[in-house]
Amino acid sequence: MQALLYLVGSLLSAVLVASGSQYASTCNLSPLGAGQDDTDQVMAAIEQCGDGGLTVFEEGEYNITRKMTWNLTSSRVELHGYLSFQPDYEYWLQNSSTYRVVYIQSQASWFIVTGSDFEIDAYNTGGINGNGQPWWDYFTTVPRLDGDGRPLALTVYQATRGTISNFLIEAPPFWCNCVAESSDIVYDGMLCNATNTNPEFYGQNIVPNTDGIDTYRVDNLVLRNFDITTGDDCIAVKGNTTNMLASNITCRGGNGIAYGSLGQYVDLPDYVENVTMTDLHVLRINPEIQPNMGSGVYFKSWDGTVNGSPPDNGGGGLGYVKNVVIRDAFLDNVTTPIALYQTNGAQSGDAPSKYQFANLTLLSFTGTYQKNPLVDIACSPAAPCPDLTFENINVTLLSGGTPAYECENVLSQTGLPVTCNSTVSSS
Ligand SMILES: *[C@@H]1O[C@H](CO)[C@@H](O)[C@H](O)[C@H]1NC(C)=O
Ligand SMILES: *[C@@H]1O[C@H](CO)[C@@H](O)[C@H](O)[C@H]1NC(C)=O
Ligand SMILES: *[C@@H]1O[C@H](CO)[C@@H](O)[C@H](O)[C@H]1NC(C)=O
Ligand SMILES: *[C@@H]1O[C@H](CO)[C@@H](O)[C@H](O)[C@H]1NC(C)=O
Ligand SMILES: *[C@@H]1O[C@H](CO)[C@@H](O)[C@H](O)[C@H]1NC(C)=O
Ligand SMILES: *[C@@H]1O[C@H](CO)[C@@H](O)[C@H](O)[C@H]1NC(C)=O
Ligand SMILES: *[C@@H]1O[C@H](CO)[C@@H](O)[C@H](O)[C@H]1NC(C)=O
Ligand SMILES: *[C@@H]1O[C@H](CO)[C@@H](O)[C@H](O)[C@H]1NC(C)=O
Ligand SMILES: *[C@@H]1O[C@H](CO)[C@@H](O)[C@H](O)[C@H]1NC(C)=O
Ligand SMILES: *[C@@H]1O[C@H](CO)[C@@H](O)[C@H](O)[C@H]1NC(C)=O
Ligand SMILES: *[C@@H]1O[C@H](CO)[C@@H](O)[C@H](O)[C@H]1NC(C)=O
Repeated sequence: MQALLYLVGSLLSAVLVASGSQYASTCNLSPLGAGQDDTDQVMAAIEQCGDGGLTVFEEGEYNITRKMTWNLTSSRVELHGYLSFQPDYEYWLQNSSTYRVVYIQSQASWFIVTGSDFEIDAYNTGGINGNGQPWWDYFTTVPRLDGDGRPLALTVYQATRGTISNFLIEAPPFWCNCVAESSDIVYDGMLCNATNTNPEFYGQNIVPNTDGIDTYRVDNLVLRNFDITTGDDCIAVKGNTTNMLASNITCRGGNGIAYGSLGQYVDLPDYVENVTMTDLHVLRINPEIQPNMGSGVYFKSWDGTVNGSPPDNGGGGLGYVKNVVIRDAFLDNVTTPIALYQTNGAQSGDAPSKYQFANLTLLSFTGTYQKNPLVDIACSPAAPCPDLTFENINVTLLSGGTPAYECENVLSQTGLPVTCNSTVSSS
């Protein structure tokens, strides 16, 4: 509800910003052209007009060769063109070439937007070109680790009352978006496209970790009108995401829409509360381009034992996900429509997770799936799940069989066959 109220507020302020006259200054840019470096002129424009001003980028490609922070205060940016981050991954992978502001998994950023009361509108003609293909090719032979320095394409960090609209992100090397330590942020119109075009790798997923957006330590967040082509999570709701509304989200390929992973940090509880999603479309695409289409929606936590330490390993973290509503999901040929597991990073003999999932409501799921069970819920014996509600879960098994439902350690559910909450084991 708070998210909905905020949305109305943001539309009003967008109208005010559109009236124009209040800008202290206006900066206009056009690309310098082939072989030139645009970073200086971009930084100069934002320094001059980012506080109270309007910055207008003409269409075209702006060559960005080093890390960049935009601090926008009462400011509007019209980004008709692409910020094209130079494809020299050896340069970007040096520690000093990126920022490390995203605490979770120590992820790297090459472009940070911070500040307050701003709008960036990219008019569906601009945004970011991540030039990811050489990165994806390179990381087919090098291990992909969290925190290894692959930069996420757009980081919104310590921002309040900001809107990002009609924004295209082509070929992100790593996560397409992350919003962290922020509040009252609206994304309205976001395209992320991690599509391998190298025939050598057709039929393989060479774009792991190209998540559409990860949310972390953020309150009052609206995600609307997303179109995400990925080899990983379409949306990943991570720790301390509260009062979030996502609507009209299209996910093409990858793992599906995730709540998690949560509980990675033993000393840092992850609280996720009031996260509503509506009008979801989760679609399998040409397997030559992207072979995976895992889940519609899934929930995941680490297990109860600490194995190694973040960014790559962890576990034992506490917290909860509660008051989740997911409504109107269309799934096309996903492997498993709805899943929950609490065994991320698990090794044999580990303690069960104490991370709590509660009060999850899933309504009106349609479409098709590949493999039973339709609902695969495995809550931890150390934190059985109360208050799971299902209604109109009508997804068709493509092979023609009868849907199956599995519920382990579910304290109470409604809407699935009653046998589905009958396997509570003792902890
Ligand atoms: C970007 O700028 C660098 C440094 O000046 C230059 O070497 C490179 O050719 C430019 N890239 C493009 C696509 O213009
Ligand atoms: C951003 O700009 C505002 C206004 O000029 C200033 O108060 C704030 O400290 C700046 N933030 C950062 C991170 O530089
Ligand atoms: C680069 O930064 C990472 C993460 O902060 C750190 O683990 C690593 O040791 C650093 N590498 C170098 C060469 O400084
Ligand atoms: C993503 O990029 C690929 C390759 O350029 C293109 O074929 C595809 O249409 C794009 N997808 C979307 C949804 O824009
Ligand atoms: C849903 O979002 C897509 C962009 O991803 C947009 O083209 C479409 O118009 C939106 N649909 C509605 C009903 O707003
Ligand atoms: C989440 O917020 C609580 C306070 O509400 C804090 O104690 C906890 O450390 C936060 N967790 C993360 C991951 O920031
Ligand atoms: C979740 O929503 C309820 C009902 O609107 C509200 O009372 C509660 O404070 C919200 N939780 C958080 C963490 O904001
Ligand atoms: C469950 O979540 C819904 C949606 O946020 C909320 O309205 C309801 O009060 C919650 N129920 C409980 C028992 O907390
Ligand atoms: C579902 O996806 C598989 C690939 O995983 C493909 O072989 C099959 O033709 C698809 N079925 C439908 C009905 O789209
Ligand atoms: C389930 O979906 C199928 C195929 O879309 C439809 O024919 C059927 O009427 C639906 N059943 C219910 C109970 O909604
Ligand atoms: C399963 O859940 C239903 C609805 O919450 C409840 O009435 C029933 O007693 C539960 N069954 C078991 C075996 O726990």
